[in-house]
Amino acid sequence: MSDTRKASKNGKKAPPRSRPERPLIPELAAAIAILGGLSVVRLEGGLHLTPWYRALGAVFAGGLSLVLVRRASRWRPPEARFWLGSVLAGALLTVLGGAGSPYLVPWGVSTGLGALFFGNSFGIRVLLPLLAWGAVYLGMGPTVAGLMGGLLMAVAMPEVRRAREFMAVGALAGVVMGTTALLFLGDAGTVGVLAASLSGPAAILLIWSALPLVERALDRTSPLTLMELLDPSHPLLEELRREAPGTYYHSRNVSALAEAAARAIGANPLLAAVGGLYHDIGKLIRPDFFVENQEGPNPHDDLNPSLSKVILAAHVKEGIELARRHGLRGDVIHFIATHHGTSVMRYFSERGAEQGLSPDEFRYASPLPDTKETAIVMLADPLEAAARTRPREEIPELVETMVEDRVRDGQLDRAPLTLAELAKVKQAFVRVLQGMAHNRVRDYPMYQGQ
Ligand SMILES: [Fe+2]
Ligand SMILES: [Fe+2]
Repeated sequence: MSDTRKASKNGKKAPPRSRPERPLIPELAAAIAILGGLSVVRLEGGLHLTPWYRALGAVFAGGLSLVLVRRASRWRPPEARFWLGSVLAGALLTVLGGAGSPYLVPWGVSTGLGALFFGNSFGIRVLLPLLAWGAVYLGMGPTVAGLMGGLLMAVAMPEVRRAREFMAVGALAGVVMGTTALLFLGDAGTVGVLAASLSGPAAILLIWSALPLVERALDRTSPLTLMELLDPSHPLLEELRREAPGTYYHSRNVSALAEAAARAIGANPLLAAVGGLYHDIGKLIRPDFFVENQEGPNPHDDLNPSLSKVILAAHVKEGIELARRHGLRGDVIHFIATHHGTSVMRYFSERGAEQGLSPDEFRYASPLPDTKETAIVMLADPLEAAARTRPREEIPELVETMVEDRVRDGQLDRAPLTLAELAKVKQAFVRVLQGMAHNRVRDYPMYQGQ
C-alpha cells in the first residue's frame, strides 16, 4: 500500500519525499557539449561550418531546453540517460539527414522510441529540446515539419500493438510532414517536400531496427514484443502447455484476471497480462511437484514439509533463470521474482505445524511487488486457485478475504496502490472469476503449490 495510507494509519508523519534521481550534471554537460559539436557541422552539398552566431544560438537554445526539461522531470537515472541519448540521436540524424535536405528530419525516431517505452509525455519531452535546437540550427520550415512528425509519433506510438499499425504511423507521419513542407514550398522546394515525406517511413524503419538493441539496453519490453509474448505459440508457453498443463491454464487465468484489474485502475494491462502468463514458468523444471499438474501420487507425501518448501520456493529462482535464457526482459522477469513476496506456503506450513514448526519457516524469501501490475499479479495468483473450489456466489467474499489477508500480512507494503484502486481491483477480480466459474475442471486444496 502507498506510504500515505500507512502514515495516516499509524498516525505518524510521513517522511519528506526525497528526489530519488540524481540531476545527472556531468551527463547533461556532456550532452550540451555534443550538441555544440553537432551544431557547428552542416553537410548540405559537402562539409561546411555553420555560421558561428547560428551554432552558438542553437547550442544555447538546445542546452537551455535540456536543463529546463531535466529540472521539470522526475526520472530515475536510466530513464534520464535514455532521454538525453534520444535527444542527441535526433540531433545527429538531423545533421546527417542534412546531407540530403534540411527537411529530412526523422525526429520521430527519438520521440517514437521514447513514447513506446515510457509513454507519450516522455516522447514530447524528447521533442522539446530538439525543437529549441532545430529552430535555430535548421530554421522555421524544417522545424515545423519535424514538430508535426515528432509529435504524431510521440502521441500515436504508445497505442501501437501490431506491425501493421506501426507501419501506418510511419506512413501517416510522412504524409503530415510532406504536407507541412508544402506550406514552406518556397524554402523546401520539391526535394524538401520529398525529404519531409520520407522522414516518417525512415523513422519507422530505424525504430524497427533499433528496437531489439534498445530493449536490451533498457532491460524493458516494448508493447510490440509484449504482444509477441502473449502468442500461445511462444516456445516457453508451448513447453508449459506440454510439460505442465495445469500451470499453463492457471497462468492463463491469472493473466486474464491481471489484465482486467490493471485496466480497471489505469495501469498497464498488456504488461500485467504478460506478467500473469509467465509468472510461474519456473514450475517447468519440476512440474510434478505442483498440485495443478499432478495426476498420480503426490511426491510431497514422501517428503518432509521443510524439503517441500525448498522445492516450491525454487520455482521463483528457476523461473528467473529460464526467463533470462529465453531473452525475457527485466520488466517481465520482475513478475516472476515478486509474485510470492514473503507470503506463507499455507498448505506446507499447516503440515509443518504438526511437527511444531512456525509458519514463518514456510515463507518465500522474494522481494515484495513494487509496481501496480506486479501487486495485481500477486493478488490474482492464489485467488485463481482458490476460486475453483467455490461456487459463484461465494466469490465476492473469497476475494475480499484473500486480498485483506495479503494486505494484513504486509505483502503490499511496497505497492503503489491506493485504497480506491484496491477496491477497483477487487471488483475486477470478482467479475472475471464469476465469469470463469462455470469453467471449473477440478478441485484442489487451497494454497498448495502457490
Ligand atoms: Fe508461483
Ligand atoms: Fe501461480
